[in-house]
Amino acid sequence: MSIADKFKLLEENNRLAELGGGEDRINKQHDAGRLTARERLLELLDPNTFVEVDKFVTHRTTDFDMDKQKFLGDGVVTGYGKIDGRLVYVFAQDFTVFGGSLSRANADKIVKVMDLAMKMGAPVIGLNDSGGARIQEGVESLGGYADIFYRNVMSSGVIPQISAILGPCAGGAVYSPAITDFIMMVKDTSYMFVTGPDVIKTVTHEEVTKEDLGGAFTHNSKSGVAHLMAEDDSQAMMMIRELMSFLPSNNMEDPPVKVCTDNIYREDDSLDTIVPDDPNKPYDMHEIISKVVDEHNFFEIQSYYAKNIIIGFARLSGKPVGIVANQPAVFAGVLDIDSSVKAARFVRFCDAFNIPIITFEDVPGFLPGTVQEFGGIIKHGAKLLYAFAEATVPKITVITRKAYGGAYDVMSSKHIGADMNFAYPTAEIAVMGPEGAVNIIYKNKLSEEDRLEAISDYRKRFASPYKAAALGYIDEIIYPRQTRTKLIQALEMAQNKVKTNPSKKHGNIPL
Ligand code: HXC
Repeated sequence: MSIADKFKLLEENNRLAELGGGEDRINKQHDAGRLTARERLLELLDPNTFVEVDKFVTHRTTDFDMDKQKFLGDGVVTGYGKIDGRLVYVFAQDFTVFGGSLSRANADKIVKVMDLAMKMGAPVIGLNDSGGARIQEGVESLGGYADIFYRNVMSSGVIPQISAILGPCAGGAVYSPAITDFIMMVKDTSYMFVTGPDVIKTVTHEEVTKEDLGGAFTHNSKSGVAHLMAEDDSQAMMMIRELMSFLPSNNMEDPPVKVCTDNIYREDDSLDTIVPDDPNKPYDMHEIISKVVDEHNFFEIQSYYAKNIIIGFARLSGKPVGIVANQPAVFAGVLDIDSSVKAARFVRFCDAFNIPIITFEDVPGFLPGTVQEFGGIIKHGAKLLYAFAEATVPKITVITRKAYGGAYDVMSSKHIGADMNFAYPTAEIAVMGPEGAVNIIYKNKLSEEDRLEAISDYRKRFASPYKAAALGYIDEIIYPRQTRTKLIQALEMAQNKVKTNPSKKHGNIPL
């Protein structure tokens, strides 16, 4: 074979690999409102940065005449590239080849990039679109899954792992994304479930559609399995790029700093009037967050789930921070099972990846009721307490209004290691709200007039930040308009924080 022919062979093999399962299946993929694996990668990565590995890998199965059906690449496109100039490893399942199903060879390709990512200290982004285990292979495929799960666990807390679900993701296959840090889903075209509608109908006689059972909206709003939702594949890729801009490449790095063009001394007078006079009136904590952070840019995570707590990323003076905030506009910002678990996982992510945590607090306490107690609010609420307490990154808290009861302790109080705790003059820091306190102290012994008087007296004496400030539990009472500057100063003060927890194999968070 001449050199020219050898080059031609390479060209032909490249063409075949890039064609995946062929034109017809590519058209089917487009008709279903989805991009192909390669198109997704082009949108995800900086132009001309994608380097493919294992492009010519094929499966090694002979059962079911599989030796007569080989596709170069075997249903997954793997390699590395850059996002905003920073190295990331990627795998994109190619639904046009055997439905993106996971063969042994296909799993080996994914495992290879996961191992490289750990060696080089770079994130892994998985674009999932797969019919699950390659049915013709059986246990080899299951072994492949387990190899991936194991690496997901070993990589957890070392490199960021992001999953996009862009098509089917069913059976045990869901557990790889579930272990990763963030799951992105696309409306109407993606679904995740352990057992599908048909099995459910047989076993429990429930009838449910794929979309209702495991679509993007279900997992973003009901189950809390997913963290982000996009309108289509292109928007999903854009959102992953933005998410990446807040994250370091690994747990030994600080998160990437952006040039800050927003005045760090910017005061916003409207902040002084956001918290209403009436302590029972709701207000939207998003307003405070967006007025305080750089360019008003808040990248919210799990915005459809447990809306009584807000989590997400923003920047202060160009540096990424994780924000955890009670939301008084939803159930008065009460802490319940879902909000505790949502925030706890986020706090642990931030801590693992050196992202300082800013907490905005307005919480009347934990939600009472049998549903919560039987559901285990004790252990779930403890998760948030545990997460805040073990976090060693800079922790700064702003109490805007209520900080009542155990929730005061939990929400990044000084006692569990916060570095600077601010309170607005509107803060109410006490064991419980004035009504509840008076009812318990005086039982039913007071006339209505005296009861109201006692409530007013309690509010004056205890429902303020001054008692806590007198004890040093609050470092400074600030004017709300100064919040941005105060937070930036505090972050600068804490930037060289050195704090390590006692050496141990691992703690035992109440799961
Ligand atoms: C091999 C598969 C496949 C699979 C799909 N294909 N899933 N090939 N193994 N698991 C192939 C189809 O034969 C078809 O090939 C092509 O992919 C596209 O599939 P369609 O059925 O035409 O597509 P669609 O109608 O969109 O349906 C998609 C689907 C369906 C819902 C995913 O294909 C399906 O139900 N597949 C089986 C799912 C499944 O039971 N997987 C195993 C789960 S158990 P052609 O040649 O026609 O294009 C599991 C265990 C993991 O995953 C455990 C880990 C611990």
